[in-house]
Amino acid sequence: MILLDGKLASASVKENLKKEVDKIIEKNLRPPHLAAILIGNNGASETYVASKIKSCKEVGFTSTLIRYEESVLEKVLLDKILELNNDPTIDGILVQLPLPKHIVETKVIETINPKKDVDGFHPINAGKLVQGLETLIPATPYGVMLMLEHFNVDTKGKHAVIIGRSNIVGRPMSILLSSNLLHGNCTVTLCHSHTPDLIEICKQADILVAALGKPESITAKMVKPGAVIIDVGITRIDDNTKKNGYRLKGDVKFDEVAAIASAITPVPGGVGLMTIAGLLKNTLKAYQLNTKN
Ligand code: GUN
Repeated sequence: MILLDGKLASASVKENLKKEVDKIIEKNLRPPHLAAILIGNNGASETYVASKIKSCKEVGFTSTLIRYEESVLEKVLLDKILELNNDPTIDGILVQLPLPKHIVETKVIETINPKKDVDGFHPINAGKLVQGLETLIPATPYGVMLMLEHFNVDTKGKHAVIIGRSNIVGRPMSILLSSNLLHGNCTVTLCHSHTPDLIEICKQADILVAALGKPESITAKMVKPGAVIIDVGITRIDDNTKKNGYRLKGDVKFDEVAAIASAITPVPGGVGLMTIAGLLKNTLKAYQLNTKN
């Protein structure tokens, strides 16, 4: 069994990005600059954004964190995005989701300049992805593709089953895995909450991507021996024995599935780290789009 270690794969992506930044600095140009907007005090969002900012520093990017109270007016947020769109020193903009209920997510996403949309959530970027055009790809499915590339997982002609149809993970993942890419060319089945016989479909998967957000819901009886397992779930479970009061669990029951899989991503230390690698690669790409450097 191969452990698809996100620490190894993301370190390799970051090392290459650092080399690109070094070349930029040698030319006396400014490095890529990411602006991250965080609203409220959601613990998981705080952790993700802190990790994104730290990773920018590691590869030599500049980053700016903009924080608002939970009660911030939608107009204030949209005005800030417009300001960042018009700022030539900002290459990438991300607004951490989920947003407070009074803010309309689609409005926020559609306000971001598609060329600076390092999450790849803007309908223009999502549309380009569907058509196989060059674009900014949502960071988590992009990270999964980088993981498959790093470990040279053979995907051509395989049956990939994806559980979850979100715009952030499942749907773009289905497009990438079915695209004519080196680590694509899968036959894809996209499952969701209305899929009957989920167990039977999962058992047919050569590659199983779990992105349903239900901890440990994928058990060994749902997995074909020898399958490649990609666990996108990250749920916080209360644990008083931990200093931070929680422990992270994936969507896959790791020990029993690892015993029959040919390769599996751990949680933590798997896809989460690759999401950041995908975001960083998008930020460099946005920089190149915006500066032509
Ligand atoms: N919330 C959960 N995943 C993501 C992500 O990839 N990007 C943003 N902006 N918010 C998220």
